[in-house]
Amino acid sequence: MLIELKDTTKIYNQGKPNEVTALSDVSLRIEEQTMICLQGASGSGKSTLLAIMGCVFPPTSGSAAIAGKQLSRMPDRFLTIHRRETIGFIFQQFNLLPRLSVLDNITLPLLPLGISPPERKARARKLMEHLSISHRESFPAGQISGGEMQRVAIARALINNQPIILADEPTAHLDSRLSMEFMQIMADLKKEGKTIIIASHDTLVSEHPAIDKIINIKDGRIHVP
Ligand SMILES: Nc1ncnc2c1ncn2[C@@H]1O[C@H](COP(=O)(O)OP(=O)(O)OP(=O)(O)O)[C@@H](O)[C@H]1O
Ligand SMILES: [Mg+2]
Repeated sequence: MLIELKDTTKIYNQGKPNEVTALSDVSLRIEEQTMICLQGASGSGKSTLLAIMGCVFPPTSGSAAIAGKQLSRMPDRFLTIHRRETIGFIFQQFNLLPRLSVLDNITLPLLPLGISPPERKARARKLMEHLSISHRESFPAGQISGGEMQRVAIARALINNQPIILADEPTAHLDSRLSMEFMQIMADLKKEGKTIIIASHDTLVSEHPAIDKIINIKDGRIHVP
């Protein structure tokens, strides 16, 4: 099992007046090469669940095994290394550095890994070609179209060949044509063997034929309607 959560609970600011239980006893199993849509009202815990599956922090209690490693047993330093090797994140606002070139944005996650500049460039060029953004290689990321920015964000999430792709409301700022294009790219990545989890309210996402399962969260718990 690629992702296995058991009674996973996350409490922010535990023991303080501003304590919030964001996830309560969440148990789920996600197999390799599947595509999941995560749904739930604002504040229900979707981003928190993505953060745990993304090895950003371990659960407060319960267990979370991501790609064979128990998060709560890992010191922070190893958690960071495991995250870099395992997880590609795509954010709602893309989080690109607008003054850096498209190429430099894509290779950013490789900087801490000590990979040589020619190797970084070669990997990025392959992805840019795959995602049809090669012609924007040296453009500042702040000066390209929304759809191009999104493909740069996808390339950056794939640059280290991580097996798990997590996306938090990735189509929120895209029109329907670009949203469909995004889902087509995700469907292709699934075919290539990736496991993809997308938090989204967009029906273009949840009703896409490549989605294997919809997980509903309500008040930090998995909700079975
Ligand atoms: N860093 C934090 N510190 C304290 N509380 C937090 C933190 N992040 C989230 N929360 C709280 O945890 C709960 C779940 O938040 P989360 O961001 O996971 O929800 P969400 O489903 O992603 O919501 P949205 O759809 O609005 O993005 C909310 O009550 C939120 O206020
Ligand atoms: Mg969120």
